[in-house]
Amino acid sequence: SRNIRLAVIPGDGIGTEVVAEGLKVLEAVGTKLEPTHYDLGAARYHRTGETLPDAVLEELRGYDAILLGAVGDPSVPPGVLERDLLLRLRFTFDHYVNLRPVKLFPGVPTPLAGSSADDIDMIVVREGTEGLYAGTGGVMRRGTPHEIATQESLNTAHGVERVVRYAFEKARSRPRKKLTLVHKTNVLTYAGDLWQRTVDRVAGEFPEVTTDYTHIDAASMFFVSQPERFDVVVTDNLFGDIITDLGAAIAGGIGLAASGNINPERTAPSMFEPVHGSAPDIAGQGKADPTATILSVAMLLDHLGLHAESARVEQAVAADIAERRSGRSTHEIGDDITARVSG
Ligand code: NAD
Ligand code: IPM
Ligand code: MN
Repeated sequence: SRNIRLAVIPGDGIGTEVVAEGLKVLEAVGTKLEPTHYDLGAARYHRTGETLPDAVLEELRGYDAILLGAVGDPSVPPGVLERDLLLRLRFTFDHYVNLRPVKLFPGVPTPLAGSSADDIDMIVVREGTEGLYAGTGGVMRRGTPHEIATQESLNTAHGVERVVRYAFEKARSRPRKKLTLVHKTNVLTYAGDLWQRTVDRVAGEFPEVTTDYTHIDAASMFFVSQPERFDVVVTDNLFGDIITDLGAAIAGGIGLAASGNINPERTAPSMFEPVHGSAPDIAGQGKADPTATILSVAMLLDHLGLHAESARVEQAVAADIAERRSGRSTHEIGDDITARVSG
């Protein structure tokens, strides 16, 4: 079979450190993966003023998948790299499904007293191309006492329906077959109404799936107090962003949380990345846990149809974290998981 073309964007801070370990594991699992590195992020921005040149964006479109570390750096104004690099990739390549498993591996400590691996096994289907991330709105009279800043949430019937449909399909494929819409329909009456009506309508096509609804504030509480309530969660872009950091915390920490920005129709490459950011507070110290990136690599392999390889990576991670030894460096964790994948 032909080589799989992978674009690699290590990015900033610990992004470069964790991606190196992800690639080590990819190589060890024995796929015909041909990685090409793209130098994008804070260093490129400072050197050339570029975030994501149009020509690079079009080149990236030709890959089978993208692996990204993290972007964002304290030396760059907030939003520049996040919006013009990361969100531009998600929007341009129609990554309307941001898939974020929240799964507690056996043996991993959770801060939730009394919860075990059986209780925390859900998947958040976060919308990835719309909502408050769309960037509509603006500012008037900036810097004056009368400044007005608006930031709108964009929700289209098409955009909501396609992600809701994906979430129903995901729910149908899981043993519990339960889908929870998380929103704020009691206040966000226009957007919430569209989401709720869409779920209600699409539910008619999935009679085997049970649906329910929880407001985002209560859902945040239930993530902590009763995580077993959730199987598949579908929610908008910003709620999904926030609740998946909470999800990461209950499932053993942000260093373990993986994600995939999926284009289900495969009209452009999907992009896999840890949920965490560039972690400037620990960057360059070899302290970052690369496990989230390695689990994102497992999601990438699965997306590319390499199911056995994906399972091997996930099993290697599960075995590694079941006997977590503390004090290991980024490299040591990567090496330990690589050894399990190889042998
Ligand atoms: P962060 O996720 O980078 O860090 C939050 C905390 O978690 C920090 O204390 C950090 O040290 C810790 N942490 C994160 N990943 C870890 C890992 N793998 N191992 C151990 N500890 C880890 O979030 P932040 O501090 O809010 O953001 C920092 C920068 O990253 C910002 O510029 C932000 O915009 C950006 N960011 C980028 C992405 C992305 O590229 N997908 C995601 C989130 C944040
Ligand atoms: C994430 C990050 C991004 C988001 C930022 C960096 C744009 O927090 O991937 O969770 O908000 O989606
Ligand atoms: Mn986030």
